[in-house]
Amino acid sequence: MANWPVHASITGPIVMIGFGSIGRGTLPLIERHFKYDPSRFVVIDPSDKNRHLLDERGIKFIQAALTKKNYREILTPLLTAGSGQGFCVNVSVDTSSIDIIELCRELNVFYIDTVIEPWKGFYSNPKISAADRTNYALREQMLAQKRKRKPGSVTAVSCCGANPGMVSWFTKQALLNIATDLGLKFTEPKTREEWANLMMKAGVKGIHIAERDTQQRGKPKPIHTFVNTWSIEGFISEGSQPAELGWGTHEKSLPKTGRKHKAGCQAAIYLLQPGANTRVRSWCPTPGAQYGFCITHNESISIADYYTVKKGKTVKYRPTCHYAYHPANDAVLSLHEMFGTGGYFQPHWHIMDENEIVEGIDELGVLLYGHKNNAYWYGSQLSIEETKAVAPYQNATGLQVTSAVMAGMVWALENPKMGIVEADEMDFRRCLEVQMPYLGPVIGTYTDWTPLKERNLFFPEDLDKKDPWQFKNILVNF
Ligand SMILES: NC(=O)c1ccc[n+]([C@@H]2O[C@H](COP(=O)([O-])OP(=O)(O)OC[C@H]3O[C@@H](n4cnc5c(N)ncnc54)[C@H](O)[C@@H]3O)[C@@H](O)[C@H]2O)c1
Repeated sequence: MANWPVHASITGPIVMIGFGSIGRGTLPLIERHFKYDPSRFVVIDPSDKNRHLLDERGIKFIQAALTKKNYREILTPLLTAGSGQGFCVNVSVDTSSIDIIELCRELNVFYIDTVIEPWKGFYSNPKISAADRTNYALREQMLAQKRKRKPGSVTAVSCCGANPGMVSWFTKQALLNIATDLGLKFTEPKTREEWANLMMKAGVKGIHIAERDTQQRGKPKPIHTFVNTWSIEGFISEGSQPAELGWGTHEKSLPKTGRKHKAGCQAAIYLLQPGANTRVRSWCPTPGAQYGFCITHNESISIADYYTVKKGKTVKYRPTCHYAYHPANDAVLSLHEMFGTGGYFQPHWHIMDENEIVEGIDELGVLLYGHKNNAYWYGSQLSIEETKAVAPYQNATGLQVTSAVMAGMVWALENPKMGIVEADEMDFRRCLEVQMPYLGPVIGTYTDWTPLKERNLFFPEDLDKKDPWQFKNILVNF
């Protein structure tokens, strides 16, 4: 696209926290799609690895790690400098989203992040119970803060990357496509309740965030090196949390390691095992049937919660929802190596960048299953070649995230007084309209695959043959 549209104006300072793979990729999209004063753009990161990109542009760089002690002192003058309303773009690890969102409310500045991050040390602290180390617990803190807010407070977008984020918008489009194909009589929902009712009416039992990353470097993964297409720190952190999933009303039995929460929305359960070592059966268009990891993600809980239908206090319907992530082959090998050593991180980490990736796509979508047409995958099949053609400083995985951050920022500026929002609550059409030029082919396709295909051939398995879509059939036990 030669003439990229300027979608909105940012009238105050822009403060970006974190300048790793996502920060660096978000920068050119902010430059392209917003009117703002570049002399009021500041980036904070303890690492100066990517600093040259800022120096080239004359963007101010502060080399510092935000901590619980210093974040107010560092951020307050930056976010309030000069006139207009500022924007805080948090794409870091190890900084508390909850604390920074609250500060942004006090200062009346916009906020966006891509995960609910805690302060450093949370994920690796064995003294914190498994239940408290879940994304469910982190999201409950965010929801408590959301409930406390007065109506009309400045917009803060929580968890707006590819997933969590864009996949919530895909879920709505996929649901409309399925409902239309099934010939259901419906008008497009406007409220959460209406969306949940339509999901129930369509007979969707569950949703996989089904992803296959085929990007590769054309050379083997070196021993003792963790290789990935995005943050290794972020991936290890979330992969070491308990596996989590939104728990649907069609499920008959909890898995052996499954546990319910004592408080909160009750939309999800957690497993007493790390997500990056929990395999599930799923399906994506390119590989067909595949194993993915049930790594905990905010959207597994928020989507299940959003599409819950209640009658009074009784839950009538809820879809199961979880991630089924097949990362790049090198990342699968890296996890195998890491868990094999008892969970010790490899001494070397390597994020594959756009210059060394020789081929591959990030196929990221949602698989809505259990309805009369069996299962439907809707998502983006972004290749490394197309990524390089449309935006600099990132691979396909990165661009799916950074374009969602940019779309979320546009939506926030167009809806400035919404308080704290999750992607499920945003206008999915507007967000996808803004993001679409960066997603490569976006397709919807049905499959006749179920997790019972090719099972029980050589070894006896404990399967539920009456309902293929029980989580029991999806979870890989051997
Ligand atoms: N929702 C999504 O789709 C999605 C996808 C990818 C990444 N993410 C999230 O985005 C965030 C960034 O990912 P990434 O791939 O850019 O990671 P990265 O590791 O490449 O970069 C993170 C950056 O944060 C910086 N940082 C570390 N501690 C900090 C501190 N205390 N204060 C300020 N900066 C600090 C690091 O130095 C690093 O440059 C992670 O939280 C990750 O989980 C979300």
